[in-house]
Amino acid sequence: MADDKILLRRPLEADHKGLIRVVDDWWGGRRLRHLLPRLWLQHFTSTSWIAETPDGALAGFLIGFVSPDNPAVGYVHMAATSPNQRRRGVGRQLYGAFADDLGRRGVRELRAITWAGNRGSIAFHQALGFRVDDGPGTVRVYGAMAYPDYEGDGEDTVVLRLVLEPGPA
Ligand SMILES: CC(C)(COP(=O)(O)OP(=O)(O)OC[C@H]1O[C@@H](n2cnc3c(N)ncnc32)[C@H](O)[C@@H]1OP(=O)(O)O)[C@@H](O)C(=O)NCCC(=O)NCCS
Repeated sequence: MADDKILLRRPLEADHKGLIRVVDDWWGGRRLRHLLPRLWLQHFTSTSWIAETPDGALAGFLIGFVSPDNPAVGYVHMAATSPNQRRRGVGRQLYGAFADDLGRRGVRELRAITWAGNRGSIAFHQALGFRVDDGPGTVRVYGAMAYPDYEGDGEDTVVLRLVLEPGPA
């Protein structure tokens, strides 16, 4: 059940420092801060979201965009919720806001990737209706279909897709 005290707003460039401070911790110690250079808080804020508690504490974030090459596709670059706020619907709230907003702009499909060992992320996306891409080149890794060496770094990557239902006219 979504915590109705969580508030969503658009990120500001000034949020970069706070996000960088938490990303590695929120991904369980994995070093990922290099995936969030400041440019994401300069050029992608109008399609991204910050979740906060009423006292302004960071509860989660979603950095995403509309694909410049295919405007029918919305892509989630990074999304996470505070370990103190997990399983309270904050992730669902962030993805819901992203889907509603981009759906109104003509986006028909959301995409995201995660590494094959991130079982929580895969289960989360599947709970939201995302389908694991099982196309040519995928192999089963830890029970999910994944693209081996997707980024050329030896990691197995799960590609996730969600077709958006058309909203009210
Ligand atoms: C994945 C993540 C964003 C989920 O955020 P969250 O706020 O806990 O998610 P929600 O509470 O909205 O969960 C919605 C549903 O997803 C599923 N789900 C979420 N986390 C899950 C987990 N760890 N294991 C299994 N199912 C999970 C559940 O069905 C859940 O509904 P329920 O709690 O009513 O059963 C969060 O765990 C996270 O930040 N993980 C680290 C970063 C990460 O992996 N990001 C993903 C993109 S790479």
